Amino acid sequence: MQSQSSKKDGFCVGRRAFLLGAGATVTALMLPLGGRMCRVSAATKAYPRKVVGKLSALKVGEPQPFLYPIDDPVYCNSLLVKLGVPAGGGVGPQGDVVGFNTLCPHWGGLLAASYKQEHQVLGPCPTHLSTFDLTRHGMVVAGHSTESLPQVLLEAQGDEIVAVGVLGLIFGHAENPGGA
Ligand code: FES
Repeated sequence: MQSQSSKKDGFCVGRRAFLLGAGATVTALMLPLGGRMCRVSAATKAYPRKVVGKLSALKVGEPQPFLYPIDDPVYCNSLLVKLGVPAGGGVGPQGDVVGFNTLCPHWGGLLAASYKQEHQVLGPCPTHLSTFDLTRHGMVVAGHSTESLPQVLLEAQGDEIVAVGVLGLIFGHAENPGGA
């Protein structure tokens, strides 16, 4: 069994070396192939950059709808929410502005009207009651879903809020529309 980096092909590394390097910036995927961890190239496609709102226009607890990554009102309905508390992936001076797709990752239940400011959650889903914590990247806190709610990655440019990607798979897709 090989436990050191391969000197022959220069691509495979041992498990220990992989773990030690796991925190570094990664430009390729490491996958277990034939009992070894091997570096494989991954083709990626950039998501569009889209201005989806203004920081000055948001009020705590009043979500604003937007479409991302494409203008598809069925699958790409999303919400900008100023939570009032810092959140994972949050932007703005308080780091409390987040964006999420609003289709439940379980069976596609509609979550857009279910935001609860008292707990900063989206849900319960009307179908099977899944509920998602918007302060923790849309993590499931109740219900049947086994996946987090897809988070729309945001950047702040002055007062503008710019959507730049999606973390997670939008319901009904094998790959997200408009991106990797
Ligand atoms: S569709 Fe939302 S919990 Fe099942």
